[in-house]
Amino acid sequence: MIVDAKQVVVKGLTFEPFITHEEIQETVQRMAFEIDTRFEGRDLIIVAILNGAYVFAADLMRALHIDPELQFVKLSSYEGLSSSGQLSQVIGLPKELEGKDVLVIEDIIDSGFTVYKFMEMIRKKGVRSVELASLFVKPDKLEYPLEINYSGFEIPPDFVIGYGMDYDGKGRGLRDLYRLKSD
Ligand code: IMP
Ligand code: MG
Repeated sequence: MIVDAKQVVVKGLTFEPFITHEEIQETVQRMAFEIDTRFEGRDLIIVAILNGAYVFAADLMRALHIDPELQFVKLSSYEGLSSSGQLSQVIGLPKELEGKDVLVIEDIIDSGFTVYKFMEMIRKKGVRSVELASLFVKPDKLEYPLEINYSGFEIPPDFVIGYGMDYDGKGRGLRDLYRLKSD
């Protein structure tokens, strides 16, 4: 990975700065306030979707005043630059969700396939409630009827990396968000 102030090159593709770490932090604080307000006095379990949501999960947990449990699940439907349309793996789904308030958190929603399928699966566990938070949403690409209860940024349908998100396994550690440069 080659990083300078104006661009990042990952595996031959060039990405340009898009949203700064500071802007992301402000938005995470705002989302944390909304979630605190909603779940105050309740027993919340946050289920974060790996790999991409690990950075958002860490920042959100530290921004919250309530003290939810945190669980991670691994699902994957994405390879390279576009969704493969198949939910191939689900690892680590907590067994005891019956009667619980669950908040699923995602880094980014593109077609919505991954999280739509996952929300259906959670609903079948007899939960008390299930809501969804995503830091980034690409509304123009959404293909599934998802209710996104807490949404950070609505962004254009460009491919992005950084703040936990990767291109082919690379770029997750970037502090800011970068978008694929169109030439
Ligand atoms: P969906 O199922 O099409 O909504 O794809 C969602 C998953 O694909 C997310 O959890 C991300 O991990 C990944 N993804 C979607 N868009 C991007 C992107 O622009 N950059 C990196 N990963 C992405
Ligand atoms: Mg993800």
